[in-house]
Amino acid sequence: MQKAVRFYETGGPEVMRLEDITVGEPELGEVRVRHVAVGLNFADTYFRSGLYPAALPSGLGVEAAGVVEAVGPGVTGFAPGDRVAYTGSPLGAYSTARVMPADSLVKLPDEIAFETAAAMMMRGLTASYLLRRIWPLNDGDTILLHAAAGGVGLIVSQWAKLLGLTVIGTVSSDAKAELARAHGCDHVVRYDREDVPSRVRALTGGAGVPVVFDSVGKDTFAGSLDSLRRRGLLVCFGTASGPQPPIQAMQLAMKGSLYVTRPALADYIADPVERAELAGELFGHVAAGRIRIEVNQQYDLADAARAHSDLEGRKTTGSSIFVL
Ligand SMILES: NC(=O)c1ccc[n+]([C@@H]2O[C@H](COP(=O)([O-])OP(=O)(O)OC[C@H]3O[C@@H](n4cnc5c(N)ncnc54)[C@H](OP(=O)(O)O)[C@@H]3O)[C@@H](O)[C@H]2O)c1
Repeated sequence: MQKAVRFYETGGPEVMRLEDITVGEPELGEVRVRHVAVGLNFADTYFRSGLYPAALPSGLGVEAAGVVEAVGPGVTGFAPGDRVAYTGSPLGAYSTARVMPADSLVKLPDEIAFETAAAMMMRGLTASYLLRRIWPLNDGDTILLHAAAGGVGLIVSQWAKLLGLTVIGTVSSDAKAELARAHGCDHVVRYDREDVPSRVRALTGGAGVPVVFDSVGKDTFAGSLDSLRRRGLLVCFGTASGPQPPIQAMQLAMKGSLYVTRPALADYIADPVERAELAGELFGHVAAGRIRIEVNQQYDLADAARAHSDLEGRKTTGSSIFVL
C-alpha cells in the first residue's frame, strides 16, 4: 500500500496525517514516480500553517527524487527505470509514490544520489537563481546572507565563494557559526545578540553591502535595509520568522535609493530552458564536489510532525529529507 502525508485543516505540525493512498496510472503527459527520498522545506511549513494558500484537504511537499515506474500517453522524454527528481507544484511530495506532470521532472545524473537530489532540488535551484539571475554580482563583492547555516544558506555560501564573493553570514548559535565558516562564510554574525547593520558597516569600511539575501523576514527586515549600501538590493526570499512588515516606497529613497525584491523559485524555473540551465549548473557543481549538499537530518514520513517542529524550532542545519 502506498502512503502520503495529508492535512485537512491548517495549523501546527499535528495537523499532518500519514494515510494509505492508491496511486493511479499516469494519464496524458504524466509519469508515475516511486519516491526514494523527499525534501523537507521551510515552504512546507508555510502551506501547513496557512501562510501560503492550499486547497484542503491537501498533500504536502514540493521536492523529491525517485524512479519512474510508468509513463502515460504522449510522454517521450522518460521511460520506466529512469532516475528523476523534481521541485514544484502540485503539493504532494510527502508520499511513497505519485503521478506527476512529466514536464516537471529532470533526469538525475548517475553520480548524484537520490538523497542528495531530494535535499537540493528546491534549495539548490534557489541558490542558483539567487546568485545567478537576480543581480550582477562581481568578483570581490560582499554579500550579507541570513540563516547561513540553513539548507539554502550552506549552498549559497559555498556557491558565493565559487563566484569570488565575500560572505557575511548570520546564525543563532556558535555551532551554526562554525558550520557556516566551514562552508565559506568569511565573517559570521550572531544575529541573536549582535547588531547586524553595525557589524556589516564595520566589515565594509562603512559602505554597506550591495545585496542582502534575507530568508528570515520579519525579525531581520529592518536590519537588512540598514545593511545595504547606496542603491543596494534587499532580496526577501523567505519568512522563517514571519512575513516582512509593509514598507513605504519613500523609505527606500531615504535609505539610499534602495531596491527590494520578493522572488519565488517558480518564476525562475517556469521556462524549461532556464530551468535546465540552472539545474545543469547546480548538478555540475555538486557532481564535481565543488558544492557539498549537507543532508544533516533524515526522517521517516511517519515522523513528519517532529521534522516540522525541528525545522521551525531552529534545531536543524543544512538540508532535511524523508527517506523511504
Ligand atoms: N523564495 C524562494 O524561491 C525560496 C525557495 C526556497 C526556500 N526559500 C526560503 O529560504 C529559507 C530557507 O529554507 P530552508 O528550507 O533551507 O530552511 P533553513 O534555512 O534550513 O531553516 C530556517 C532557518 O531560519 C533561521 N531562523 C531565523 N529566525 C527563525 C525563526 N523565528 N523561526 C525559525 N527559523 C528561523 C534559523 O536559523 P538560525 O537558527 O541560524 O537563525 C533556521 O534554521 C526559508 O525562509 C524558505 O522559505 C525561498
